[in-house]
Parts: sequence; C-alpha cells; structure tokens
Amino acid sequence: MVTTSAPGKCILFGEHAVVYGQPAVAVAIDARIRVSLEVSESGWLIDGMQFDKQRHPHLDAILKRMWISDGGPPLSLNIESDLFGAAGLGSSAAICSAVAAGLLHMRGTPADEMPLSGIATTAHLAEAEAQGGRASPIDTSTATLGGAVLVSDKKEPLAHWKYSRDLRIDGQRRTWEVHSVELPESISEASLVIGYSGRPGPTAQMVANVATLLSNEPERMEDIERIGNVTRAGTTALSLGNLQAVGIAMNECHRLLQGLGVSDGDLDRMVEAALPSSLGAKLTGAGGGGCMIALTMEPRRTAEEIELVGGRTMVSQLGASGVRIEND
Ligand code: MEV
Repeated sequence: MVTTSAPGKCILFGEHAVVYGQPAVAVAIDARIRVSLEVSESGWLIDGMQFDKQRHPHLDAILKRMWISDGGPPLSLNIESDLFGAAGLGSSAAICSAVAAGLLHMRGTPADEMPLSGIATTAHLAEAEAQGGRASPIDTSTATLGGAVLVSDKKEPLAHWKYSRDLRIDGQRRTWEVHSVELPESISEASLVIGYSGRPGPTAQMVANVATLLSNEPERMEDIERIGNVTRAGTTALSLGNLQAVGIAMNECHRLLQGLGVSDGDLDRMVEAALPSSLGAKLTGAGGGGCMIALTMEPRRTAEEIELVGGRTMVSQLGASGVRIEND
C-alpha cells in the first residue's frame, strides 16, 4: 500500500483578479489530505464503496490519464481529510496531487525523485477537465509545491519562476507562470486563523458575477488592477517578513473584494470580529460563502473572536510542505 499526502491552501492576495491575468499568492496550510492506494481484488473502490465516476470526476480524470490508459489494474483508494469540505481550501486539488504522486510511486518513482512540475501539471489538467475546462493552476501548484506560490500571466521578478502551465479554455490558449515565494523564518511567528462560514462558496457563480459586473461597468477593471498592485506589494512584504504590511495588504484586498460584491454578511462579520486581534483579515477564495483568513500573533484569541460570531475555525502556520509519500 502507498500512502501520500498533500496540503490544502489559502489565497493570501489576488483572488478574482487572477482570472484577469493579475498575480495571486496562496500558501499551503497544515491541514492535509491523505490518500492510501492499493491494488484491489474487488474492482475499483473508494473508501470501501464502489467507485462512482460522477461523484469523483477529478479522480476519474486522473486515473484515466495516469493509470487506466497504461492498463493498470483496479485500485482501492482511501481518502482522509483535515479540511473543511467545499470551502475553497483546495481539497480537490490536494486529492489530485496526492493521487498523482501515489500512482507514480506505485509505478516505481522513488519518493525523493517525484517530478513536482509533472505532478502539478497532471493534477491541474484533471481538475480543469472535471470543472469543464476552467481552473487556474494556483490550487494544484500550491498542493504540489507547498510553501507560498505566486501565479500570474507573466513572469514576476518578485518570486522564483518554476514552470509555465497552459490550458485551452473555450478554444483559447491561456498561459500561467507559476512561481514560489521564499518565506523568511520570521513568518513562523505568525499564524493564520481560517474561519469557515459553514456554507460552501459557489466558485463558478462568483467568478461569473464578477464577469457580469465588469462587462456592465468596464471602469471597475481599475479595481482588478488595484488588487494586482496590492498583491505585488503584499508579496514583497511577505518575502521580507514585514508582517504588518502583509496584514495591511490583506485588509486592502478585502475592501476591494467587497467592492466587487463577492463578500457576504457572514464573511464580513468574521473579518470584523478578527480585526482587533489580527494584523489583517480578508475573505479567501471565491467568496459568497466559504472561508476568511486572519493573520495573527494571537491565534487562540482570534479564533475565539471568530467563533463568537458563528464561524468554525482552524489554525495553521504559513507554508506547509507540499505533496509527499508518507510510507516510503
Ligand atoms: C478561487 O479559489 C479563486 C478565484 O480567483 C478563481 C480562480 O482563480 O480560478 C476566485
């Protein structure tokens, strides 16, 4: 049996603007997905039940691409998750990355020779296929590389370029440049408190709402550019360990995202509750439900404040390690 794991992620800056070519930065979090894979004598199984392609389109895409196409036998997969489900924390990307690494290991790739850009590419293609062709590579790259990841439509001098990803969407080719952002040791002084509203965030709907807003009010594209500028400033602050400035950039992102109409009452309440004990707080991911994050030196106090207004919380350091084989 092979057991692998991959981290979830939070977007620190740049959600929605990344859809329009601006940079976005995500960090890997301590909450992980763990997957065990073994050859099955009883056909395809997932968590002991018959594998249902409709319920697991990501897995179906990745297994076809990496295993079934080469005549691999049926497998039994078990998946455990520390993440809130469907909350914008990248659980499907983490599953894709962990399964891709597990399949490579079963075929003989040693744990310390995992081809990370290949895993991220396969995981991204599987995720895009499962979502009808639309997915930026930020989730799958963060799950695979770990640490902090910056994605942009161009190479950004602020970060270390790793690889390019491209994808055909509606007949057009889109290219993203994927970078890692070096985190200073002092980053471990701060924590992220993740507050979950208890309602899933409808990503496709929120992305479509922003597209409608921009088509009705084209001048709002200035706000998208502002988010891009705040993301660049926030990234510089992050790599220098200037946590106050990271917090300010997060607050500014939240204000701009509110202006785009993607926050809601629950997310705003949790952000407000977290602010007195935090360096900065914002919604993370698509909005309209899902999660917010607060950067804080007092994680217990911040978590309590978020819980008092109804949020469920999880505390993480910034920049967990990426996909790995657990039982080599
Ligand atoms: C969702 O986690 C982030 C968005 O920017 C969509 C995307 O990047 O594909 C809203």
